[in-house]
Amino acid sequence: MTEAKTRIGLIGYGTIGNAVHQMIDADPENGMEIAFVHDVDSSRLNDLTPELVLTDLAEFESAEADLVVEMAHPDVSRQWATTILEKTNYMLISVTALADRAFEESLEETTCRHGTRAWLPHGGGVGVDALLENRDVWEEVSVIMKKPPGNVDCAAAGIDPDSITEETTLYDGPVRDICPKFPRNVNTIATIAYASLGFDRTNAKLIVNPAWNTATVAVHARAPGIILDIERAETISGVTGASTPASIYNSIQMIGSTGSGIHIR
Ligand SMILES: NC(=O)c1ccc[n+]([C@@H]2O[C@H](COP(=O)([O-])OP(=O)(O)OC[C@H]3O[C@@H](n4cnc5c(N)ncnc54)[C@H](O)[C@@H]3O)[C@@H](O)[C@H]2O)c1
Repeated sequence: MTEAKTRIGLIGYGTIGNAVHQMIDADPENGMEIAFVHDVDSSRLNDLTPELVLTDLAEFESAEADLVVEMAHPDVSRQWATTILEKTNYMLISVTALADRAFEESLEETTCRHGTRAWLPHGGGVGVDALLENRDVWEEVSVIMKKPPGNVDCAAAGIDPDSITEETTLYDGPVRDICPKFPRNVNTIATIAYASLGFDRTNAKLIVNPAWNTATVAVHARAPGIILDIERAETISGVTGASTPASIYNSIQMIGSTGSGIHIR
């Protein structure tokens, strides 16, 4: 049986965007195809066939994407999410953008008005399924993220990561306030908050140590009769943990794949 392919538009062609493109192309049975690729840095797109390159994102409609995936920066979602959601579905992986309540409301409102859907992938988050399915019962949720300082973009916080010589807690408090301080680094924490107690009642701790060479995210959640403790340590490149590109691809596939076979959700 021949089925129509789901067309995926990619914004951001760095570590994650590049890997996701390759994963979509690597499985011809997944029922998906690339509609366009856009990146503000056009040199990143040199190896692509010209038909796939969308130079001006304002022309996204011409590519007829069924789902546009932001893998660039929270600013991109702030600027484009509602415009795109007026026409088609949108996934934002820079979830820290949602710490701005007005932005979150604008997404909710636009999707309701236009009948489209906004998606958040679980990305680097661990235990998100377990948190989400019990969203209403949690009394306490906390996330501890540990990274080498060289893998933390400290620009918005006004910190020089090279000046950190020992284990240092950069933040300890509600998730809402860590997002604007480290917008490129705590998307995992933002997603865990969104899936559980929200940005104000979920606690985040960000700890750095130049002696570490892995990134760790640990989630602790408590509800009457339930304790959830889960931790993952992995290598990290730039701001992205080793498991994240495949995680993002899998979320896109859950939404967009049309192939036959057995699928786990
Ligand atoms: N949800 C998660 O769990 C999770 C995990 C890791 C990273 N992230 C986020 O995903 C995004 C991509 O991560 P990455 O490791 O691929 O980053 P990267 O720096 O390797 O790539 C980002 C790409 O986006 C492009 N870009 C930046 N601003 C842009 C703009 N205004 N318009 C168009 N393109 C723009 C850059 O040129 C670059 O090619 C980042 O925002 C990062 O914080 C999310």
